[in-house]
Amino acid sequence: MRAVTCTTPGGPEVLAISDVPAPQPGPDQLLVQIHSSALNRADLLQRRGLYPPPSGCTEIPGLECAGIVTDCGTNVDRGWIGQRVMALLCGGGHAEAVCIEPRVAVPLPECLSLSDAGGVAEAFMTAREALFEKGDLQPGQVVLVRSGASGVGSAAVQLAVACGARVFSSAGTAAKCAFVDQLGAECFDYRVRDVAEEIERRIGKAAVDVVVDTLGPRAWPEHERLLARGGRVVTLGLLAGAKPQAVDFGLLLRRELTIRGMVMRTRSAAQRVALTRRFIRDVLPLFVDGRVRPIVDSVYDLDQVRTAHERMERNENIGKIVLRIAR
Ligand SMILES: NC(=O)c1ccc[n+]([C@@H]2O[C@H](COP(=O)([O-])OP(=O)(O)OC[C@H]3O[C@@H](n4cnc5c(N)ncnc54)[C@H](OP(=O)(O)O)[C@@H]3O)[C@@H](O)[C@H]2O)c1
Repeated sequence: MRAVTCTTPGGPEVLAISDVPAPQPGPDQLLVQIHSSALNRADLLQRRGLYPPPSGCTEIPGLECAGIVTDCGTNVDRGWIGQRVMALLCGGGHAEAVCIEPRVAVPLPECLSLSDAGGVAEAFMTAREALFEKGDLQPGQVVLVRSGASGVGSAAVQLAVACGARVFSSAGTAAKCAFVDQLGAECFDYRVRDVAEEIERRIGKAAVDVVVDTLGPRAWPEHERLLARGGRVVTLGLLAGAKPQAVDFGLLLRRELTIRGMVMRTRSAAQRVALTRRFIRDVLPLFVDGRVRPIVDSVYDLDQVRTAHERMERNENIGKIVLRIAR
């Protein structure tokens, strides 16, 4: 089968499309012919040699997929064959086929096409876990979603709006902010405006309950200033750099603040099953009702994967960069 490979760390030029052996389903697995997948920030880091796959996981990049089940192992109900599914993966999505456990396969509702669904699992599962499992966001609370136009950010904004939260966001261009506003947030261009000041002007000081943080320590002084008593920061990424930042522990104590880190890729098999169940229970119905939707920035064929990486590296995408894999 065709798959994206990368033999040496580097820029997009080190990516290649290679012929590799097709995976064979084990007794408890489904074989999925992949129709679409999508890029994630992690794929850029993996290509540069900064984010190796967890042990036991394929070197082929790609953290999500959508496709059709074409075969299964002997212990699996053959009723799966022919079903349209999507899944979160620890790798292997940028290829023509992948094997997964049935318990992490999400049957696609009619409203989701095989073309769009390849960009749904990672963004929406990550956003759901960050907002509700780690962030404990409640209806009526206030959330700040950083990088609101990113794949994960645009999913988090939609889920937070759907739950009845007041949603603030930040992004790096006027066009991105306008898009995030349309999703129901109040989004500020951090390059030209003081995000904390804008939020305080609207809701007063120390009134944000949850921050979905893609930026890391550089943004902590703003988060510390904005968080309400009992506020939670869920850090998903370190886009603005990892250099440590002073934490005012007096304030942390008085306001009972929490900083939590979150990583999806290294989750155990049991955790993946559990988070898939939560996604099916809580998020899939929102797609069916039309309250959330996949945000597709652009679609590239598998052999255009270098161009797709370049677009993400230039921070140009609004929503997901989808890879079309089925020919
Ligand atoms: N922990 C996890 O399990 C997990 C899972 C998925 C994603 N993530 C994280 O979530 C974030 C978004 O991921 P994604 O795949 O959705 O990304 P994406 O669609 O590629 O969007 C990333 C956006 O981040 C902003 N950005 C990039 N470099 C920046 C910098 N130096 N300073 C400030 N902002 C910068 C840019 O938007 P602006 O122009 O608006 O600044 C960029 O478009 C990343 O931090 C990623 O690592 C974490």
